Amino acid sequence: MVDEDFRTIWLKPDDPAIVQIIDQRRLPHEYDVREIRTWQDGLAAIRDMAVRGAPLIGATAAWSLYLAALHDGDSGESVRHAARELLESRPTAVNLRWAVDRILQLADSAAVDDDLAGLIRADAEAICNEDIEICLGIGRHGLSLLDEISHRKGGATVNVLTHCNAGALATINWGTATAPVYLAHQAGMDIHVWVDETRPRNQGSQLTAWELARNGVPHTLIVDNAGGHLMQHGQVDIVITGTDRTTRRGDVANKIGTYLKALAAFDNGIPFYVALPSTTIDWSMADGVAEIPIEQRDSREVTHLSGVLNGIAATFRTTAPQTPVNNIAFDVTPARLVTGLITERGICSASEEGLAGLFPERTAA
Ligand code: MRU
Repeated sequence: MVDEDFRTIWLKPDDPAIVQIIDQRRLPHEYDVREIRTWQDGLAAIRDMAVRGAPLIGATAAWSLYLAALHDGDSGESVRHAARELLESRPTAVNLRWAVDRILQLADSAAVDDDLAGLIRADAEAICNEDIEICLGIGRHGLSLLDEISHRKGGATVNVLTHCNAGALATINWGTATAPVYLAHQAGMDIHVWVDETRPRNQGSQLTAWELARNGVPHTLIVDNAGGHLMQHGQVDIVITGTDRTTRRGDVANKIGTYLKALAAFDNGIPFYVALPSTTIDWSMADGVAEIPIEQRDSREVTHLSGVLNGIAATFRTTAPQTPVNNIAFDVTPARLVTGLITERGICSASEEGLAGLFPERTAA
């Protein structure tokens, strides 16, 4: 990000008993900072998608466990109860479990007279700082791909297509899919992003477009079905998306519609890359289609649209009242359709060998 101090979650400077977030449901119309005072507030923020995006969901869970410890003495009982509730909140993004397990291990290893809240606070801060470093690592490696395309095109515009919001708003700063784009833009590359609208919650039109504009990155909003046509007409050089869970064989779950973009990219010989922090790898899973839990969300997200009407926030129904809805929030793109995985440690093939090569210390759980 041009704004290197940008954060999506932080401790209130003058009151360490309050965590602050940007209420992403109000963007792009309003920049509303909301206070999280209890772990239940944190849980609601994740569930209602005031915060969303795999890394930010994990970080919010960590901060929620800090609040649980803060308000419950140091017994750790409230932390364990909050952890169980948080784990139920959003099933697909594995960062949630990763962060909760990390904090629980800390709580389990704490001595009785330790300041548990203080320990968890330090670790929640560490999770956020590490995420920024991880995203920057992804950015540097992904930049090499964009550099190569730019050279091949003699400096002409590099067109990136992305789906959902795998940007700064989905992480702590920089984003995963957007980090290479921000670095390329900072380096003066002629770059342009096709932003998929990403129905039903419009993370593309409401969040990705907002943050690209804020950083001065040229972009154009398209409806979700436009990508294939643009690819057929040579207007997409590379697709980069994020992921909510990646199996050890390289299958990736991401926002619904990602799979169709991968199919269209494959048919058109366009590289399809997935940017991922290692915190989104689920080493215990092999077959993403069979094993990754897919979140089903409220049908109102499909039957209703929200926006601003004459300056006032408005939500209205676009369907007949009784229309049945299946609101599947994520899909799985099989590894065979993924050109490569961009991680903080480098780029690898979407395969067990590729991931094991970059993360040799990990073995299947
Ligand atoms: O439902 P959301 O908005 O939480 O879904 C977010 C995505 O699908 C992102 O692409 C993914 O979490 C990667 S974020 C770096």
